[in-house]
Amino acid sequence: MFGLQKATQVTSTQDEATTLRWLAEQYPYPDRPASPPCLPRPYLRVNMVSSIDGAVTHNGRSGDLAGPGDKAIFRVLRALADVIIVGARTAVVEGYRQPSPDEVFTAVRAEREQAPAPALALVSRSLSIPTDYAPLTGPDTVVLTCRAASADRRAALRDAGATVIDCGDDDVDMQSVLEVCAERGWVRALSEGGPTLLGTFIDDDVLDELCVTTSPHAVAGDAGRIAHHPAQAALHRMRPVTIITDDDGFVFIRWTRASAEEA
Ligand SMILES: NC(=O)c1ccc[n+]([C@@H]2O[C@H](COP(=O)([O-])OP(=O)(O)OC[C@H]3O[C@@H](n4cnc5c(N)ncnc54)[C@H](OP(=O)(O)O)[C@@H]3O)[C@@H](O)[C@H]2O)c1
Repeated sequence: MFGLQKATQVTSTQDEATTLRWLAEQYPYPDRPASPPCLPRPYLRVNMVSSIDGAVTHNGRSGDLAGPGDKAIFRVLRALADVIIVGARTAVVEGYRQPSPDEVFTAVRAEREQAPAPALALVSRSLSIPTDYAPLTGPDTVVLTCRAASADRRAALRDAGATVIDCGDDDVDMQSVLEVCAERGWVRALSEGGPTLLGTFIDDDVLDELCVTTSPHAVAGDAGRIAHHPAQAALHRMRPVTIITDDDGFVFIRWTRASAEEA
């Protein structure tokens, strides 16, 4: 009942590239064939940071909760992914840019026949993304929305050069989001939230892996949790596969979907 899984402590004595490559080995994507005719459903990993007492932000942003180890894992998870799926508001609030190639992982990505950098998929129902938001016109950026979205906003974004794709009728359907990713060969999906998007992934039962950084801070306040949704989802059993700590007291746990027997 109380089997102890020890945390692996990463110290900062190694050079940065060695640490990043070691971290990448701790976060492998499962092998999935990437080519038609059998389009696989992409494997969906979500990476979020929380305070000890469960806050998703401090002063309205997650940045205050982050640390060097967290940033290293954030970097590694991006370097492993084909696509980053993010809520449009989070992308705008957090100042997301078009993902760029990471020199530490250039060779690994080339070996895996991955593009030099992940694509960016912005999820939005309202399409209230500012038309001057720079990544909109990036070569590998898509805006994923639904047919009920405002026709005016859709036209404005398309005029600004965005690729807008419908994933559902009244709401953005996360199964459809993953199908669009699969069609584009993006089978290693990473989402960096935010909480509304993660809540929908959980409710739509498409979450394969949740990487949670616990920041060594208690913050109280009225910030939300890392996931929320209007409906209470069923219990989704996960199991911890990797537990890492760093010199600064951050704890990084990689939770994957439990097997049918464990659930
Ligand atoms: N601690 C962390 O790890 C972390 C990570 C990310 C974000 N955050 C913080 O979380 C806050 C934002 O929270 P949030 O819940 O608003 O973020 P969010 O999950 O990014 O949700 C809002 C955005 O995503 C779109 N969206 C999400 N779910 C959707 C769905 N099912 N269908 C259609 N569109 C969907 C919304 O589209 P519309 O355009 O239609 O509204 C909106 O643009 C920010 O303060 C950010 O800093 C924290």
